[in-house]
Amino acid sequence: MNSGLAGQRVLVTASSTGIGYGAAEAFLKEGARVVINSSNQGKLDAARAKLATLGEVHSVLGNLAVKADIEKIVGETVRALGGIDTLVYVTGSPKPGRFLEFSYEDWRAAADLLVVSPAYLTKLVADQMIRDGVKGRMVILSSYVIREPSLGIALSSVCRVSMLSLVRTLARDLGPKGIRVNGLLPGYIKTGRIDQLAQDASKRRGIKPEDYITEIERDVPAGRIGTTEELGRAIVFLGSDLSSYVSGVSFPVDGALSRSI
Ligand SMILES: NC(=O)c1ccc[n+]([C@@H]2O[C@H](COP(=O)([O-])OP(=O)(O)OC[C@H]3O[C@@H](n4cnc5c(N)ncnc54)[C@H](OP(=O)(O)O)[C@@H]3O)[C@@H](O)[C@H]2O)c1
Repeated sequence: MNSGLAGQRVLVTASSTGIGYGAAEAFLKEGARVVINSSNQGKLDAARAKLATLGEVHSVLGNLAVKADIEKIVGETVRALGGIDTLVYVTGSPKPGRFLEFSYEDWRAAADLLVVSPAYLTKLVADQMIRDGVKGRMVILSSYVIREPSLGIALSSVCRVSMLSLVRTLARDLGPKGIRVNGLLPGYIKTGRIDQLAQDASKRRGIKPEDYITEIERDVPAGRIGTTEELGRAIVFLGSDLSSYVSGVSFPVDGALSRSI
């Protein structure tokens, strides 16, 4: 199947490593023109150098939790590509931990990163698409914990729930303009985040990090952790016209980890 993405203008946020990087790689392989972003110049430069072997890639430094940086990310993307056809919104991770460990400041920071940032960035991208008359697509990455809270990552479990409503609200509001909005809920995907959670479990429970990995693999009916390439294919589906009549949905890519209906 032809994705029709050749020459399309794609912004992937939080993409120096992990899920965002895998998404950028997948779009470049389809011939898209891509802007990547992250908050660390060294990591961003390294990612851009690797991805440049696949096609046209630009980078914008910016912290997704900071208003001026969100404006800069969208503004510089439009300057580099001339507009945006597909937005893939990925963000960083709040720190792991259980509910009672967190302060007011922790909740504030998590809300900035997981609630305000996706709402404000998608608003700016929607404004741009509407101004340009682009029938664009947005793919908003959150997590399977949106449906099934995980006690060890309480900040993420609580704050990310708003992304489900963001997808539905935007899809219904922007549908008449020809803009489609969908969400993906990754289960366990092999990235630095999994290593961080394994280290955290090791400290808390006195187990080896590799024992944590074995535990989560046992929990997934598919029997293994997913790859960024597997998730990347789902992102390309939703971020292209392969999914032309799909909008307003959020679905898991989790090897049947989720139990909820
Ligand atoms: N891996 C999983 O199993 C899994 C499952 C469900 C959900 N998730 C979520 O998916 C998202 C991506 O995680 P990942 O697994 O790909 O982890 P990762 O490999 O650690 O990647 C995180 C990316 O986010 C960037 N980033 C972090 N904070 C940022 C900020 N404030 N502004 C801009 N960029 C920022 C990082 O780059 P810099 O450090 O260069 O800024 C990096 O490129 C996270 O929200 C994570 O919680 C992951």
